[in-house]
Order: sequence, then structure tokens, then C-alpha cells
Amino acid sequence: MFHEIPDELLRRMRELEERDAADRCDGTPRLERLRQIPPETGRFVALLAASAPRGRCVEIGTSAGYSALWLALACRSTGRRLTTFEVLPPKAALARETFSQARVADVVELVEADFLASSDALSDIGFCFLDGEKETYGACYEAVIPKLVPGGLLVADNAINHQETLRPMLNAALADDRVDALIVPIGKGELVCRKRD
Ligand SMILES: C[S@@+](CC[C@H](N)C(=O)[O-])C[C@H]1O[C@@H](n2cnc3c(N)ncnc32)[C@H](O)[C@@H]1O
Repeated sequence: MFHEIPDELLRRMRELEERDAADRCDGTPRLERLRQIPPETGRFVALLAASAPRGRCVEIGTSAGYSALWLALACRSTGRRLTTFEVLPPKAALARETFSQARVADVVELVEADFLASSDALSDIGFCFLDGEKETYGACYEAVIPKLVPGGLLVADNAINHQETLRPMLNAALADDRVDALIVPIGKGELVCRKRD
């Protein structure tokens, strides 16, 4: 999965990494910033997605498609497709550019919509990466957990750097008897939940 990343995919990853790093120090307004995961989190979620049971692979919060490229690698190696949700049109346009340049359209479907308004149509989720607005994590968590297949995984970003905002959702997940859960100190902190069999 990581040993033969196609050149065009690697090139787009590098471009987005450079743009994201510039965003963080050049005064770009928050809503325009890419706010991407770091590469180590990309590898982590790709490994988990490739190890998840069969079922739909879903991402909440595409931005320009950087984390989706990591998940696309996992989907390619396991014969699945990723459905990724982005609510802001300018970000969705950037993501379309990413998926075209990186040539991952065969494994990635971009849905330009609010995940919370579209989630009823989803079922049998094997893996979900949650990286939207922190204020809606609780609602997204409650929308996803009942739809996970047994053994399915939900991974939520920012469990350490935004832990105060996420505290109610994190506490609820860690005490939720539908899942086994822990927080992994990689990148900005990943909450990993596995639906019990
Ligand atoms: C932190 S960024 C995502 C970064 C991306 N996962 C990456 O690492 O490359 C959050 C994105 O989620 C989008 N978003 C927030 N809430 C959403 C929702 N309910 N449905 C779809 N997209 C959402 C925002 O517009 C924003 O572009």
C-alpha cells in the first residue's frame, strides 16, 4: 500500500502538504485553510481502513482531499471505494481537482453535501474517518455507530488538540458499551472505536 504510491498521487500529496503548511502561518482565514491531517495520521488511518472488515469506507470532512488520498490507497489495496463528504463548495472544487490529478476517481466518490443531512442513506459501514467541524462530532458519532458493521471502525481526528471541545463526545465514546474505544497519541490524537461483535 505504501511501497508503490503512484507518482501523480505523491505529487498531489506534496502540493497539499506545502499549501497546508503555508496556510497555517500566512494569515489565511480559518474557513479557507485546508486544515489537513499530518502524514503520520494519513498512514495510520490508511492502515486501519485496510484492516477494517468489509463494508463501506466513509470520510466526513474532505477539505482538499488530502486524507482521502491516504484512504484511497487503502481502498485500492482492498478492492473498496471511499465515499467522502464535503459541505463547502470551494473545498469540494479543490477536492475534485485533487482526485482528478491524483487519478483516484476509480476508488473515490465525492459527495458535496452535509454528512448529517445525507447519512440516512448509508448502511454497512466498515470504516469511517470523522474530521469535520468539532461542534458536530457528537451528532456524527451518533449517526455512524449504529451503521457500523460488527468489528467496524470509527476514527475521529483532533481527540487531543481539541479535547476540551470534544470532551462530551470523547467521554460518551469511551463509556459507550456498543464499542471498544481508546485515544491514540499520534498526530493531533485519534479516537479509535471498534463496534463490538
Ligand atoms: C479539518 S477539515 C478536513 C481535512 C481533511 N480530512 C484532510 O485531512 O485532508 C474539515 C472539513 O470538513 C468539512 N465539513 C465540516 N462539517 C461537515 C459536514 N457536516 N459534512 C460535510 N463536510 C463537513 C469542512 O467544510 C472542512 O472542509
